[in-house]
Amino acid sequence: MRSLISILDFTNDELDQLIATAKDIIANPEKYWDCCKHKKLATLFFEPSTRTRLSFEAAMIELGGSVIGFSQASSSSASKGESMADTAKILSCYVDIMAIRHPREGAPYVASRNASVPVINAGDGGHNHPTQTLADLLTISREMGRLDDMTIGLCGDLKYGRTVHSLIEAMSRHTGIKFVLISPAELALPDYVIQNTLEKHHIPYEVTTSLEDALPHLDVLYMTRIQQERFDDVEEYNRLKDSYVLNTEKMKLAKEKMCVLHPLPRVNEISVAVDDDPRAAYFRQALNGKYMRMALILKLLEEAKDPEKEAIRTDGLVYDRICTNPKCICQVEQELRHTARVSEDGVLRCIYCEQKV
Ligand code: NCD
Repeated sequence: MRSLISILDFTNDELDQLIATAKDIIANPEKYWDCCKHKKLATLFFEPSTRTRLSFEAAMIELGGSVIGFSQASSSSASKGESMADTAKILSCYVDIMAIRHPREGAPYVASRNASVPVINAGDGGHNHPTQTLADLLTISREMGRLDDMTIGLCGDLKYGRTVHSLIEAMSRHTGIKFVLISPAELALPDYVIQNTLEKHHIPYEVTTSLEDALPHLDVLYMTRIQQERFDDVEEYNRLKDSYVLNTEKMKLAKEKMCVLHPLPRVNEISVAVDDDPRAAYFRQALNGKYMRMALILKLLEEAKDPEKEAIRTDGLVYDRICTNPKCICQVEQELRHTARVSEDGVLRCIYCEQKV
């Protein structure tokens, strides 16, 4: 059964096809009105969301399908201690496809191993957020007219910002990409993204704490919110929360053709006055998210007709190593066995959260 857990589950060609489908939906929406008639999507959101959940729901409705689900963990049986695996098995009885957001890293992966319908990762802790990347790719393609040959600045919380991790993985497969990583040292990119993606594929990147120094060189600026809910130490959050604020003065340093993306919600990191700058693409990006989610639902439902495709990989699994990431799903679900596999960079990593074991 084909699911979308990491953006790397799809090839570049498949991502290009999704972008092409989304553009066709934009041009000919009526062609798609009945494509998902009698199909149901479940949105299982164990963490807050505005754009992701509602754009998934709007996407399914615009395809002629229906939606069921919940928007907080407290209204599901997870609050009674039901496991992710059981939840996935139950929902497979009711719907044709499900989108899951969860604070635990690896939770949608566990669901995909237990569901008999496609599972979409709608954000797992500070790990991955592949459908936001779909929105980002369509936005960059529409704003810049290309996905190759550009310098991308990623600014803010690169440690816990799951959207950043998935975007780097996707853009690293394009040619002529260079990254500028702009963050306080405490919120630097996690090791698995650096080793498994940037170093492994020899992608040029610079690390800086200065947004002003980076701005003149960028084609895309990807701003992010400091992820308050992922901090263990409130004082550290308070010290770092206003590290970067993009305002109209700073925008004067940027190229005329640069575009500004932000997965949203924003807190303080982009002043409202920047919204009037034609380079501010973040509201268009939110709309693009709906079209890409429509394209994704269509693709996964089509592939589900051939459930043998993409069987779960069981090769190379190692069971005697313990994952120590406190945010991993394997810490709370008793029946999950700690499991690791040698990843692309040759390091043994937890199969749920990708941290070294
Ligand atoms: C992001 C998320 O949830 O990771 N939002 C979104 O899905 N558009 C970013 C964030 O919460 O800061």
